[in-house]
Amino acid sequence: MRFVVTAGPTREAIDPVRFISNRSSGKMGYAIAEAAVAAGHEVKLISGPASVAPPAGTKIISITTSDELHDEVHRTVRNCDVLVMCAAVSDYKPAKFQAQKMKKRKAPFALQLIPTRDILASLSRENRAYLVVGFAAETHDLESNARKKLLAKNCDMIVANDISRNDSGMESDDNAVTIFFRSGESKRISRAPKKIIARELVKIISKMLQKSLTKKSR
Ligand code: CTP
Repeated sequence: MRFVVTAGPTREAIDPVRFISNRSSGKMGYAIAEAAVAAGHEVKLISGPASVAPPAGTKIISITTSDELHDEVHRTVRNCDVLVMCAAVSDYKPAKFQAQKMKKRKAPFALQLIPTRDILASLSRENRAYLVVGFAAETHDLESNARKKLLAKNCDMIVANDISRNDSGMESDDNAVTIFFRSGESKRISRAPKKIIARELVKIISKMLQKSLTKKSR
């Protein structure tokens, strides 16, 4: 099967030396890419500036901004069987890039931010030939927020993690996730190293892919 996995943060430049980003390390997405390669799948890994080394056996496509990620995702999904959208995309970017370094000021000032595009929501829903696995990073109301995203972003399944815990989630080597499916079912994977969680996720995704292929060939 052909996997497209996105991972890591995006960066939105303010001026030549400053940017807006987030704490994503890329570890979860990289672990999924690695597990998919180990299971014999072909993997394209679209990655923001991550803090870990890329897994062997994947085709790496490096991006920096949410706009670059948007364009790469649209390009690569044309030839894939599943998109795993693990990247922590910045929801905002500066309204204007300052070409020259902004000088330090004494007075407080406000930076105007504008929303970035929602990449998952921008994917066409008509006759889609691939599965979409979304992620949900939540600090509260995990189940209701994740289920809302599953539908609003038209995912086939969504992997939710509680990022308020400091023993798992962002930057950590461990994670604990709950997967929500469109059927209403859910599956919890309790706290474990991201590499183990990734193997479980790849198994679940492969099963789902197999099912959807069997349906299509009928
Ligand atoms: N996502 C996306 N484009 C964006 C923001 C997020 O495609 N501009 C994707 C993420 O890659 C993830 C899913 O949407 O698969 C959910 O991301 P998350 O950060 O949990 O939620 P947001 O949509 O940003 O909503 P909120 O910040 O309000 O929780």
